[in-house]
Amino acid sequence: MPDSTIVTLDGPAGVGKTTLAKRLAEHLGLAYLDTGAMFRATACALGQDSWTWPEEKLRQALSGLHFTLSGAGAASILAVNGASLTEAIRTETVAMWASNLAALPVVREFQKIAQQDIGQGSSLVAEGRDMGTVIFPTARCKFFLDATPEERGRRRFLQLEAQGQPADLAGIIEQIRARDLQDRTRATAPLVPAVDAVLIDTTSLDQDQVFAAMVQALNQG
Ligand code: DC
Repeated sequence: MPDSTIVTLDGPAGVGKTTLAKRLAEHLGLAYLDTGAMFRATACALGQDSWTWPEEKLRQALSGLHFTLSGAGAASILAVNGASLTEAIRTETVAMWASNLAALPVVREFQKIAQQDIGQGSSLVAEGRDMGTVIFPTARCKFFLDATPEERGRRRFLQLEAQGQPADLAGIIEQIRARDLQDRTRATAPLVPAVDAVLIDTTSLDQDQVFAAMVQALNQG
């Protein structure tokens, strides 16, 4: 039975999921759930090398984290233990820590329960890596976005440049490839499209074109 209240958006790092998921949530009047931010906030709370801890210690630390989502569209607010997530989670270092933790079954199980719990209470556009395959397999509509690592690196480079931050294109592409490899090849919930996902290769499309393709798929579904 399809869950009419959930739309999922999966894909690799830097493909534009966040911008498009927010825009879609705004368009549909649904809450926006950024599950990458949940992994990043977990990595910040537990700290460097937490992925090497014994399972029981990790389980204990995870049990102290409580995620909530309020609001809708671009004004959706994700919080951990009552505190809204900040831009401090948006560094490549935190992303790599999150990716390390995300390979561990105990962390994924914790996140699965937390994410499904949020989905029980709200109608959502949920973005991540395993939204359509594992977390919300009965979602009304599932999207999987992809683009070459070079194009994703180029977009990230332009974004950093626009913010006046120093950026090294070759280094960014290298980081994207490293995270892709780890996210796509892990044993638990690897990044793969759901069999019933709408696949969109965004390499040569701009954001408006991708958004239009998504809205069209939703209207047909
Ligand atoms: O989407 P993001 O770049 O903010 O995610 C950071 C890391 O978290 C990503 O490299 C892998 C992990 N992640 C995951 O394993 N599953 C998700 N649903 C979301 C993120």
